[in-house]
Amino acid sequence: MAEEPATFRMSSDKDKLPPRPELFDFHGVSMTHYFTDNWENIQNFQARPDDILIATYPKAGTTWVSYILDLLYFGRTERQTSIPIFERVPFLEIFVPNMPSGKDLADKLPTSPRLIKTHFPVQFVPKSFWEQNCRVIYVGRNAKDNMVSYFHFDRMNMVQPAPGDWSNYIHRFMEGNMAFGSWYDHVNDWWKKKQTYPKIHYMLFEDMVEDTRREIDKLCSFLGLSHSDEDKKRVTTGVHFDNMKKDDMANYSTIEVMDFKISPFMRKGKVGDWKNHFTVAQSEKFDEDYKKKMTDLTLQFRTEI
Ligand code: PPS
Repeated sequence: MAEEPATFRMSSDKDKLPPRPELFDFHGVSMTHYFTDNWENIQNFQARPDDILIATYPKAGTTWVSYILDLLYFGRTERQTSIPIFERVPFLEIFVPNMPSGKDLADKLPTSPRLIKTHFPVQFVPKSFWEQNCRVIYVGRNAKDNMVSYFHFDRMNMVQPAPGDWSNYIHRFMEGNMAFGSWYDHVNDWWKKKQTYPKIHYMLFEDMVEDTRREIDKLCSFLGLSHSDEDKKRVTTGVHFDNMKKDDMANYSTIEVMDFKISPFMRKGKVGDWKNHFTVAQSEKFDEDYKKKMTDLTLQFRTEI
């Protein structure tokens, strides 16, 4: 049988989209079946020692860091101008009908190193990544902006659970009732993992907004890359929000399950947009709950810069 072309099209007819998925408990984490249906195959994924895993809670800056790494390793070639980012950096656990699975895309990646994306909480990561001692880049983003971004994403992405109204969404987020579970557990458990597995570089979205070039320097030193100043300047400019937003190979505009009329994938790219969404009362309640959950004071996020 001929292979599916590597595009992420569900169907030319949007009416034929399947209903939005439900959340369910999967090994103690709230998930949708699109990220669990291929579980056995994913757990058996064979990582290679030079694979680089980009791990994030959804909407924390995955695409941004993916694009930075892609440019650092492979420069701007025909690959960057003809293949969408989600095929250059496959999303390991995604398994949606009529789309190539993330695992298959990763298995077929012709690059070395292979850059692979996951939103899994740390305990779901296939064991071969640890056995092979792969480098991992984790990106965290402050909870409030992360939630706002996720809310708009859930509005426009038809393979995500429907977001419902904003006040209920805040409640769901605080309860961890989201695809990929609790933000609090995600960022904390990856942070803890870093204490025992030194090949994790833990980055923060806010630091990248504050000084992208500085964060690229840190990435290069973690990865052992010695690029010239000129190269790093080019990468910094290339991954600027405005440039990525207009780049069809980076802005997800080729994916039909996302309705950009509702909200674009590259939405604002800012720190502090939460202020345009939370009421004062919602913010206070959220902060109170946050303090109870985020007791490890060595992990600090900034909600403004
Ligand atoms: S996903 O679907 O989980 O892979 O999404 P992810 O890429 O992690 O997060 C999307 C948010 O990251 C913002 N983004 C950027 N911000 C600043 N600069 C650059 N270059 C950039 N690229 C992506 C994107 O706009 C989403 O955040 P919001 O707040 O919704 O704008």
